[in-house]
Amino acid sequence: MAFLEFIDIEKSYDSNTVIRKFNLMVEKGKLLVLLGPSGCGKSTLLRMIAGLEKIDNGKILLDNKLINDLLPSKRKISMVFQSYALYPHMNVYQNISFGLLTEKISKSEIKKKVTEVSKILKIEDLLDRKPVQLSGGQRQRVAIGRAITRNPKLFLFDEPLSNLDAALRSEMRVEISKLHKKLKSNIIYVTHDQVEAMTLADKIVIMNKGNIEQYGSPDEIYNNPQNIFVAEFIGNPKMNILKVSSSDIIDRNTIKLFGIKTRFENIEFNNDIYIGFRPEDVSLDKKSEIFTKLNIDLVENLGSEKIIYGNLNGKEIRVKSTKNITDKNITIYLPKNKIYLFDENKNRLDIRIV
Ligand SMILES: Nc1ncnc2c1ncn2[C@@H]1O[C@H](COP(=O)(O)OP(=O)(O)O)[C@@H](O)[C@H]1O
Ligand SMILES: [Mg+2]
Repeated sequence: MAFLEFIDIEKSYDSNTVIRKFNLMVEKGKLLVLLGPSGCGKSTLLRMIAGLEKIDNGKILLDNKLINDLLPSKRKISMVFQSYALYPHMNVYQNISFGLLTEKISKSEIKKKVTEVSKILKIEDLLDRKPVQLSGGQRQRVAIGRAITRNPKLFLFDEPLSNLDAALRSEMRVEISKLHKKLKSNIIYVTHDQVEAMTLADKIVIMNKGNIEQYGSPDEIYNNPQNIFVAEFIGNPKMNILKVSSSDIIDRNTIKLFGIKTRFENIEFNNDIYIGFRPEDVSLDKKSEIFTKLNIDLVENLGSEKIIYGNLNGKEIRVKSTKNITDKNITIYLPKNKIYLFDENKNRLDIRIV
């Protein structure tokens, strides 16, 4: 049974429709990531769950209870924002315990909770410090600690790591993941960062302009993107997409790919199509039937791997390799089973090459 359910949720600001007929069921104990480009409606949706934003149409059910009109304070939801919003004049202990003061629990009970939470987050030694005496990562932990002590039904995280440097970000990512596994808490986590989404999520919702483009596990979304938007959004560097125009259609089953006749099963080519292949699926030495020469524009050296930026008739092609590249051009080979096909509307075609 769903723990959190969205039924036909809609939201507009004046004439700007931000969320369109949003429908989703979230299971208990899961970490759900809302992933999408800036402005696609992620924060708006989160704020509607928290009760900070009015819902125009539709229903949100939490634990089978309609919460549309419930006061934010009655929802048993804790939210952690991008800016940590700690009280500067309070020390860490006071910041973490502040939310508990309004609840009817004893001082010793509060102390027990703060101690427990600060142990989990490894901030026991910082309880006397003021926020200004903390690093970004430590402040973020305090903000999370403050959310945890309230023992909410649901945690909402809105881009909580985007103010941190890269090293801290990956460290905190691991911390949040461990915390989720340990507490089995219900988390909705908003980010525009696909790496965060892939590493943290049990399930990902990919959003675009207030719509759900795809919902699935990180593996499902990476391996079976339903359209070009999703295919390009997940994976770094992004998937290569090439348009195959009608002049490259030989017959109803066959197109020319890099000048090579390539046959597909169960298809009738008559419109433009798109082919896609991931930079990491390309090989430089493992020969296959589909190959092409590529002029190299730039090689980015990431240490363990290189990103090769080449061009094919003026179109940029990205390739990931562990090889050292010194040549001006290379031959790339595409394994047949790693080629994706999309129709003229950019939706995925489930077709195999024969
Ligand atoms: N209070 C508001 N008034 C008017 N428009 C808003 C308001 N909040 C957000 N928007 C608009 O709604 C859209 C979605 O915003 P938001 O949910 O913040 O996106 P995201 O979090 O995915 O970056 C944007 O076009 C934004 O400009
Ligand atoms: Mg936002």
